Amino acid sequence: MSAVPGTKGRLDALCERELARFADERPHGVEELARARSRMPNGVPMAWMSELYTHPPIFVDAGHGGTFTDIDGNTYIDFNLADTSMFTGYGVEAISEVVAKRVKDGSQFLLPTQDAVEVATRLAARFGLPFWQFTLSATQANVEAIRTARALTGRDAVLMFDGKYHGHADELLAVRDKGEVVPEGRGVLRDATRHVRLVPYNDLDAVSRELARGDIACVVAEAAITNAGVILPAEGFHAGLRRLTSDAGTLLVIDETHTLVAGPGGLTARWGLQPDLLVVGKSVSGGISLGAYGMTERVAAVLDDPDAASGESVATGDTLFGNALSRVATGGTLFGNALSLAAARVTLEQVLTDQGYAHAAALGGKLADGMKRPLPQTVSTGAHIACTTAAATRTGRISRPTPPMLGTASMPNSSTFSGSIWPTAESGRRSTRPARRQGSRRRPSTSTITSKCSTISSASCGNDGR
Ligand SMILES: Cc1ncc(COP(=O)(O)O)c(C=O)c1O
Repeated sequence: MSAVPGTKGRLDALCERELARFADERPHGVEELARARSRMPNGVPMAWMSELYTHPPIFVDAGHGGTFTDIDGNTYIDFNLADTSMFTGYGVEAISEVVAKRVKDGSQFLLPTQDAVEVATRLAARFGLPFWQFTLSATQANVEAIRTARALTGRDAVLMFDGKYHGHADELLAVRDKGEVVPEGRGVLRDATRHVRLVPYNDLDAVSRELARGDIACVVAEAAITNAGVILPAEGFHAGLRRLTSDAGTLLVIDETHTLVAGPGGLTARWGLQPDLLVVGKSVSGGISLGAYGMTERVAAVLDDPDAASGESVATGDTLFGNALSRVATGGTLFGNALSLAAARVTLEQVLTDQGYAHAAALGGKLADGMKRPLPQTVSTGAHIACTTAAATRTGRISRPTPPMLGTASMPNSSTFSGSIWPTAESGRRSTRPARRQGSRRRPSTSTITSKCSTISSASCGNDGR
């Protein structure tokens, strides 16, 4: 694919101009970032935040519905929604009230509250798995789901798919490079991927070949790949995956962390998938930290009684907390805390409702339709824009002649992403909320901001109608 002559120079000049305008319109943000850099690497509380966009990080003041405002008073319509974790929209009243009350009455006891039972019951009804456990993030839920699968099967290996992202735990950060499965990023144990296999998405022959080795505890898959653009499963892929895993005595873990924006019960309910374990996180608790994994009765038995469920007896190693060698290695002090579960309960009961999903799907459909249309001043690279939609609320655009199917590791580099925060239609006007500090050199205005992360656009189910 050859670029039009002179394109790069024009793009570089354009980027430079836009970045200068960006800084000019955010004097307090620029100042805050300089201050932050003396206290935090990259000037952000989590280094990765600085890489998500092609511009410096925006310091946020407040968010409402599908928009947020920065400390210079610029307002943004948020099509990324904190990578779907704010699918409910910002500042939802029902959630705010419940969370405030829960904090007042005690947010954490290391003991269950009734909300835990209610949330487990609601998740069971939505996703079709009867038993649930809670963590603080989807990463941790995936880690525990994999450990539970290992405990039950007595096997070590995990099979995942190219283009996946299931969290930042060591062995989840695996990627194929020159035919080898290697750690994705520095600081990950060099041999963390020893028990990890990766195959192309939608390739049942490759799955079958790996399962034939007889050492795979579980396959972890998204219902549709959402971290490399959007890759939909081919006809028969999920049915084949279920059949092959069952035949091999391997557990199937479906990670619905992103795809749960597709509807109550995510794509699992919509497509009638039948995993042994299922992971959710992000938006399920309206922006308060929570991860959860559901499981069948057979899998739950290994948490109740690991020896009985796995058919093998493990030597005892009694500690303050019981038989540490025998039990499945799960848990964290704040996992399943009262605050997270109160937030999840109100979110499931009052926000992620059928009506909420229908509202978001309508907005997402509009977004997808718009993205399919050519941009007015698209620089031609010779590639066609292929637009795929995993579910009405989540859309990705890839610069390729055909929609991707395999999720090969190199794909994100050739993609055009749209997971960006776009300025409000009230371009150039001050937001209704005053800037926190006075003295900006210019009145707040807006500019087009493009994400470089491999996320995709989402529509929120908040009620502000945007
Ligand atoms: C499919 C999927 N699973 C798990 C995770 C990990 O979620 P968290 O970072 O909240 O632990 C992500 C994050 O993007 C994800 O996309």
